[in-house]
Amino acid sequence: MSKTDWSVVWITGASTGIGAALALALARRGCTVAISARGVAALENLVHQAQGLAGELWPYPLDVTDTAACAATLAQIEAERGPVTLAVLNAGSHRALALEAFEVAAFESLMRLNYMGVVNIAVPLLERMRRHGSGQLAITASVAGYRGLPTASAYGASKAALINFAEALQLDLKGTGIALSLINPGFVRTPLTDQNSFPMPFLLEAEDAAGRIIQGLEKRHFEIAFPWRFVFGLKLLRLLPYSVYFPLVRWITRL
Ligand SMILES: NC(=O)c1ccc[n+]([C@@H]2O[C@H](COP(=O)([O-])OP(=O)(O)OC[C@H]3O[C@@H](n4cnc5c(N)ncnc54)[C@H](OP(=O)(O)O)[C@@H]3O)[C@@H](O)[C@H]2O)c1
Repeated sequence: MSKTDWSVVWITGASTGIGAALALALARRGCTVAISARGVAALENLVHQAQGLAGELWPYPLDVTDTAACAATLAQIEAERGPVTLAVLNAGSHRALALEAFEVAAFESLMRLNYMGVVNIAVPLLERMRRHGSGQLAITASVAGYRGLPTASAYGASKAALINFAEALQLDLKGTGIALSLINPGFVRTPLTDQNSFPMPFLLEAEDAAGRIIQGLEKRHFEIAFPWRFVFGLKLLRLLPYSVYFPLVRWITRL
């Protein structure tokens, strides 16, 4: 028997890309999925796409940088759909930042969205899950959070913060009955990566990424990272001393 209870799922950043593919895949499996993002029209379009599937999508528009709105939306979902048994905190954005384009606002906005956008929901949600003694929480970070990469000092730092947050939380969750997953995708074709002009190795389609995420969540893996060949290479880079790491990455990225 599956250990998962996905009767009420909440996905943030669910209107496009990985989140949308995940929402549709879960609806196909019969789940009730609350979907959040800022854009109402895109959420409603996704609800429309899910018509006729075994499960249902319900739109809950939300800006995850708004702390009070996150707590209020959680309360609303639970009042209308029941306790959230799986949450995938996936809302995020990317901005490549060359040295010449450095501005404080870019760092601040990515940290508020990618990092605080997760914390804003994780805190009230964990409080509720702890009361129930069960639940599953997943956080979408990125392999870009493993180590410093060129033009990624804002994005990479926000994802590295999430990785560290999840590692620490995993230790703190012992004995609570709550399962935590850290999703670290490589390159996935979405509106976020459509802006990249450089070649993206091992690029996956969003539907493929969603399938891999579901498999990992079913097994309650702590880290769900893919595709494995890209992840393996990056994890090897993580082991290198700086004296080797910096010249190697400059050579690989031709900088
Ligand atoms: N694609 C990749 O290669 C890749 C690789 C590693 C990690 N990731 C991570 O995967 C996650 C999903 O990315 P994606 O590639 O699927 O990107 P995407 O298609 O651009 O989706 C981003 C989602 O986040 C929502 N969002 C943005 N700002 C928000 C806010 N303030 N409040 C609530 N929702 C917000 C967007 O909708 P609205 O704009 O309407 O709010 C959209 O639904 C991100 O955390 C990203 O960093 C992606």
